[in-house]
Amino acid sequence: MEKDTGEMAMEGQTGADARGAGGRYVVVKALEDGVIIMGLTRGRDTRSHHSERLDAGEVLVAQFTDLTAAIKVRGRAEILTDVGKVTSGPITG
Ligand code: TRP
Repeated sequence: MEKDTGEMAMEGQTGADARGAGGRYVVVKALEDGVIIMGLTRGRDTRSHHSERLDAGEVLVAQFTDLTAAIKVRGRAEILTDVGKVTSGPITG
């Protein structure tokens, strides 16, 4: 019988092992200069372990991994994930 490692919880979100190189992708396109994308650590601690600065028109394609559970985007950007598309940045009337 297989040992229950508790690792099944991530499956089904991706069709692959969400912890490593098979993780979900996120695409961020900067709509202004100086957009900052921060990678936040997976696990009990949430800290920013990496940041990238994009200028207008630049695109970052990245994966969620065992290290990165979440990202934070500062500035105006278009963000595509497998749950949809959203625009970050100031809300304009
Ligand atoms: N360390 C948190 C975790 O693994 C990172 C995280 C995931 C997070 N989703 C979040 C932090 C949403 C803030 C908001 O669960």
